[in-house]
Amino acid sequence: MGDLWTIEDSRKLYQIEGWGHPYFDINEEGHVTVAPRGDGYKIDLFHLVESLKKRDIHLPLLIRFSDILADRLHRLHQCMYNAIDRYGYQNVYRGVYPIKCNQHRQLVEALVKYGKQYHFGLEVGSKPELMIALATLDVDKTGETLLICNGYKDEDYLETALLAQQVGHNLIVVIEQINELFTILKLSDKYDLKPQLGVRAKLQTKGTGHWGNSTGEKAKFGLTIPEIVMVVEHLRQEGKLDCLKLLHFHIGSQISSIAVIKDAIREASQIYVQLYTMGAGMKYLDVGGGLAVDYDGSKTNFYASKNYNMQNYANDIVAAVRDACDAKDVPHPILISESGRAIAAHHSVLIFNVVNSNNPLLNIPISKPEKAHPVLRNLWETYHSIDETNYQEMYHDAIQFKEEAISLFNFGYLTLAERAQAEQLYWACCQKIYLITQNESYVSDDLNDLQDLMTSTYYINLSVFQSAPDTWAIDQLFPILPIHRLNEKPTVKAILADLTCDSDGKIDKFIDLLDVKHALELHPLELNGSPPEERKFKPYYLGMFLVGAYQEIMGNLHNLFGDINVVHIESNGDSYNIKHVVKGDTVTDVLKYVEYSPEDLMEKMRCLAEMAISERKIEIEHSQRLLKNYERNLRSYTYLR
Ligand SMILES: Cc1ncc(COP(=O)(O)O)c(C=O)c1O
Repeated sequence: MGDLWTIEDSRKLYQIEGWGHPYFDINEEGHVTVAPRGDGYKIDLFHLVESLKKRDIHLPLLIRFSDILADRLHRLHQCMYNAIDRYGYQNVYRGVYPIKCNQHRQLVEALVKYGKQYHFGLEVGSKPELMIALATLDVDKTGETLLICNGYKDEDYLETALLAQQVGHNLIVVIEQINELFTILKLSDKYDLKPQLGVRAKLQTKGTGHWGNSTGEKAKFGLTIPEIVMVVEHLRQEGKLDCLKLLHFHIGSQISSIAVIKDAIREASQIYVQLYTMGAGMKYLDVGGGLAVDYDGSKTNFYASKNYNMQNYANDIVAAVRDACDAKDVPHPILISESGRAIAAHHSVLIFNVVNSNNPLLNIPISKPEKAHPVLRNLWETYHSIDETNYQEMYHDAIQFKEEAISLFNFGYLTLAERAQAEQLYWACCQKIYLITQNESYVSDDLNDLQDLMTSTYYINLSVFQSAPDTWAIDQLFPILPIHRLNEKPTVKAILADLTCDSDGKIDKFIDLLDVKHALELHPLELNGSPPEERKFKPYYLGMFLVGAYQEIMGNLHNLFGDINVVHIESNGDSYNIKHVVKGDTVTDVLKYVEYSPEDLMEKMRCLAEMAISERKIEIEHSQRLLKNYERNLRSYTYLR
């Protein structure tokens, strides 16, 4: 059976076409490939990882492919341009990147560079993000590149933003809270400037999924319709209604259903038209984020997927805004979107290795219990009687005998060795039954527990809290698969347990076409050919894909596992450059985060060693070895080598 497995089987099993096209595929060697430009040029991911290891860049590792960013930008703009052409829309599209999605410098700088040809701008939601955007976004003399200021704003934020309008940025301050208006008006008078303003509307259209509450009256951000009317009237009284130029809404991230997007755009278009007719200087309609990523490749409105493509999204926005404006003779606005996830997700791949496994399907040693307690003999007989016709009944018998054995032990009638024998026999029964069920087309629900019991645990060199926090926090699904051995049948089903001492530090939900799988198909770990005492597992690398949005910045230092190594790969014709290497945290770095001084720690260890030497508890050579190890560990990566 193993010989019959092909890379086509792996493609289907891991749904790679669904979520990975056109960037990820599998080659004849059974390795995952990356096509960073979405064309015929492919990088073998396994060979890339091996070559990075030779350069002392170890796992876990995040690889960012900046060409993928460029390609995502290109596709988004192309879809918007197509829709504008198709519907005879009389204005342009000017996208912005919401920095919150991933603020890392190399990524933001790459987007600014690649986005220049499209007048692609930035969106910020806080003061630190504003500082990044003001200094990173080039001032575009045509004024077509936008800097959109969202989020809660204090006077410092507003003053900086308004003054930055004077240095040439086409910056629009979006009012999210009514009190921001009064501060803006005060500052405009103080500096005698005409601010460019927007309002963020709380739409009635309900989002879906995890971020569904970003809309409606109870939404955290934005103004209700009465508040928007109040802003209009106040600006009118102040003679500044022409400053109100933009309407913004955001109904949440990862909107999986196109119907929700259509409803929202219809409602927002009407608000825009009304603001225009009330005399505001309306010029821009900003549809926020929400353009989803198909993490499971199912093309459905499941939360990890989306039932539309980028072109459908662009068409629906352009057509709805055009229709609403034409109906009331309102000029078509400049369209803005703030897509983060759909631009950044694909470009980062997280690679980590498996360090060990607990595989219940490895042979369980059992022997015939001679002259043993009847319960052990019953378990032995159960084990021998199991076949295709009776496995369900035998499973219940095995459970009953195991429970009997534990209760006998608790009352002192079985020894520890006998209890061990009972448990081994029970596991052997489970294993035998499980193997039978693998060939059955239908297995009754009472054997569900058995499926869980027989699932292996693969221990991974990673902290999910640091590198994939959404898998823990909001049950987000990311495609995960081995990046090699994909021409071999994966015969083990496993969950992944990370390095942290936290039972939540695991991944036990995986993408599946119909629903969510609770175990991932993996290959058995292989031992190298060294003598038994030196045997180690051969490297087994897994990749978690589409992790470029939100994961890095939300990661935390649980158990003091720090930032991981990051490399930036840029293609160069038919080869690639390692453009940047950002080394992950050392133990010293993470200790400093929590206020320890590595020098003080080292000195305390030295004193401890001296005391032990004087009390003759340790030899000088051993104490030196201990201190050297301590020092080396302080300089090392926080993950396993
Ligand atoms: C105001 C705003 N704009 C844009 C985005 C980006 O959304 P997405 O990543 O779904 O494109 C967000 C994220 O939630 C947001 O809050």
